[in-house]
Amino acid sequence: MKNLFITGGSGLLGSKFEYLAGDRYDITVTHHKNPVPNSISFNITDEKDVLEKISALNPDLVVHSAAMTNVDYCEDHPDEAWKLNVTGTENIARACEKTGSKLIYVSTDFVFDGERGMYREEDETSPLGHYALTKLKGEEVIQKYDVNYAVARVSVLYGWHHRMNFVTWVIDELKNGRNINIVTDQYNSPTLADNAAEAILKLFELDKTGIYHTAGGERVNRFDFAVNIADVFELDPNLINSIESTNFVQKAKRPKDSSLDINKIERDTGMKMMGTVEGLEYMKKIME
Ligand SMILES: NC(=O)c1ccc[n+]([C@@H]2O[C@H](COP(=O)([O-])OP(=O)(O)OC[C@H]3O[C@@H](n4cnc5c(N)ncnc54)[C@H](OP(=O)(O)O)[C@@H]3O)[C@@H](O)[C@H]2O)c1
Repeated sequence: MKNLFITGGSGLLGSKFEYLAGDRYDITVTHHKNPVPNSISFNITDEKDVLEKISALNPDLVVHSAAMTNVDYCEDHPDEAWKLNVTGTENIARACEKTGSKLIYVSTDFVFDGERGMYREEDETSPLGHYALTKLKGEEVIQKYDVNYAVARVSVLYGWHHRMNFVTWVIDELKNGRNINIVTDQYNSPTLADNAAEAILKLFELDKTGIYHTAGGERVNRFDFAVNIADVFELDPNLINSIESTNFVQKAKRPKDSSLDINKIERDTGMKMMGTVEGLEYMKKIME
């Protein structure tokens, strides 16, 4: 059985691999501060820890999903964000070079400035904030090593997880009858974490290399996405107020439209990236 090592196994995306593919792969998932069943403790900023654990397991694939993902926190703590998202990623790449493991690095739609939308893999990057910059530098740093790598860019991840994400937060707020303000002028390609994990596994199985947009199959703004959530989960859409981002102060600048073109992943793997309603319906189905 092939052996997979998932950094950030306690995070939203990293938590999906065991459930999706635990029957066909030997999967090791890691945590940093929040253990989950069968996870091992791992700190990507500790070069020695990274090298020892990856060398001991000698995995066929390392999915590097661990990161500092709080965009506003990264803006306020640039050195900490760099240490995790760039130096930590370099530690992983160096270890993969030693073991000969394939490396799939999970990146973000925020590498683009969002002036245009529906970005393709070869489009010019231009990160707006520090989180985005560190994720882009992570993409670049792995290329310095002699590693068989792919980059999987995702966008607004959602799915069931013990920590809240946009979808589970909207469900919770609406269920409790609370009004929420959601922006109409930020577009992304919301990505069901389960679907992105499947795409990453396909990239491994087909030994694809280079950059892939493993995101949702639909460009949507946050407000419409929230209304979709209300519709699918039969909650009250009237509780959702539309606002513009100029009325909503956030520390880090966000791209206006960082939606991703997913033709390449669909063409090269034959798989389908789910649209928004399809992804939400999948969530509803597995909840029942
Ligand atoms: N969430 C999104 O909307 C989004 C959008 C675009 C791209 N991405 C990218 O997708 C990937 C997965 O995101 P996610 O939302 O699933 O992440 P997440 O739920 O925020 O989880 C982050 C993971 O990183 C781990 N981690 C933090 N510090 C660490 C350290 N020093 N050493 C080792 N592990 C550490 C955390 O472990 P503990 O919890 O155990 O401390 C957790 O497992 C990330 O690379 C992110 O940049 C996410």
